[in-house]
Amino acid sequence: MANGLEDVIAAETVLSDVDGLAGRLVVRGMPLDAIAGRWHYEEVLHLLFGGFFDDLQSEVEFPAALASARHEVFALLTPIDPTVAALPAYDAMRALIARLPDGSDLTSALRLVAAPAVILPALIRLQSGKHPVAPAENLSHAADILKMMSGTAADPARVAALDTYLVTVADHGLNASTFAARVVASTQAGLMSSVLAALGALKGPLHGGAPGPVLDMLDAIGTPDNPAPWIAAELARGERLMGFGHRIYRVRDPRADALSAALDRLRKVGQSDAARMTLAANVETMALAALKHHKPDRPLATNVEFYTALLLEALGFPRETFTSVFAIGRTGGWLAHAREQALTGKLIRPKSHYVGPVPKQAA
Ligand code: ACO
Repeated sequence: MANGLEDVIAAETVLSDVDGLAGRLVVRGMPLDAIAGRWHYEEVLHLLFGGFFDDLQSEVEFPAALASARHEVFALLTPIDPTVAALPAYDAMRALIARLPDGSDLTSALRLVAAPAVILPALIRLQSGKHPVAPAENLSHAADILKMMSGTAADPARVAALDTYLVTVADHGLNASTFAARVVASTQAGLMSSVLAALGALKGPLHGGAPGPVLDMLDAIGTPDNPAPWIAAELARGERLMGFGHRIYRVRDPRADALSAALDRLRKVGQSDAARMTLAANVETMALAALKHHKPDRPLATNVEFYTALLLEALGFPRETFTSVFAIGRTGGWLAHAREQALTGKLIRPKSHYVGPVPKQAA
């Protein structure tokens, strides 16, 4: 048995390849550094969806189809019931997505991509006593999310930063949430069921729930002067440092580089907090040194969540919503994987090794 299915190959995919030793991510033939900061999320989504839906629009028509899905979802899911809006944003978003029809066609897929992008800004506004803002048909996915959140058109540098983030997290091999999506898809349930399963898996701190706690760590450390004692005390208490370590990467997660480059571009136009960045850089250096000492046999490097936390904070997302923003980007990957799995027609059903009590012999 492979504990945690470590190193087990459980699917063939054309969608993405994670090389943990080289620190390289390829999305359907495109290296991450060729698309992050260069492509819009819609372009990556179109690349991921190709071949999985018969009626997929051309690349030129696709952004308008997604924009109209945002419009449709807003009409379907708002006004939001106050008891749902009062839930933690992630749980409220999941509850609302569960109301969408559970189909396997392109319309269902586009609604599911649109849903978290429309629902999260609405929830953020409702939770601060404001009315939701309807989507706009003429904006990109990233620009519309920021506008629906703030109520006004976003600065192009911020739109570009969010686009970089969504592209960077769009797909990443057979991670826990994507595997959950594929398991459900293998039963021939619909795409909404796959997305719900994936949302459940993404929520945990060992997967998509880490970036909020990264900021808690930076706040607890407070000043850049000397993070080392705080880090040493955490490790001595057996705590994990959020934003470090990965099941596959044995070197720095390439997504951390893509996001730190996006942060740097924001810094150059005065859109990120310079003191926060200095603190983060010091914490990263000290944490890497401490982890090397703490686990000399297990390379533990910076993962995507460390810079996710800083980027999403700079873009004005409340920290308790970071995992929801991750879901906005990753839904594209989940849907493509769910279709890829369903089209194989093969049920995923591994075996377990029984270690429970031996039945007593009948007298
Ligand atoms: N801080 C301190 N110790 C760590 C860390 C860390 N961030 N990560 C791993 N370790 C230690 C573990 O305690 C374990 O030690 P042990 O053998 O003495 O028990 C050893 O390294 C191996 O850890 P595992 O959990 O077995 O390794 P795995 O590959 O399953 O872990 C994981 C990957 C879950 C991401 C882990 O590194 C972790 O918990 N990191 C912190 C949380 C985090 O950043 N999550 C986001 C991941 S990125 C993503 O999913 C999008």
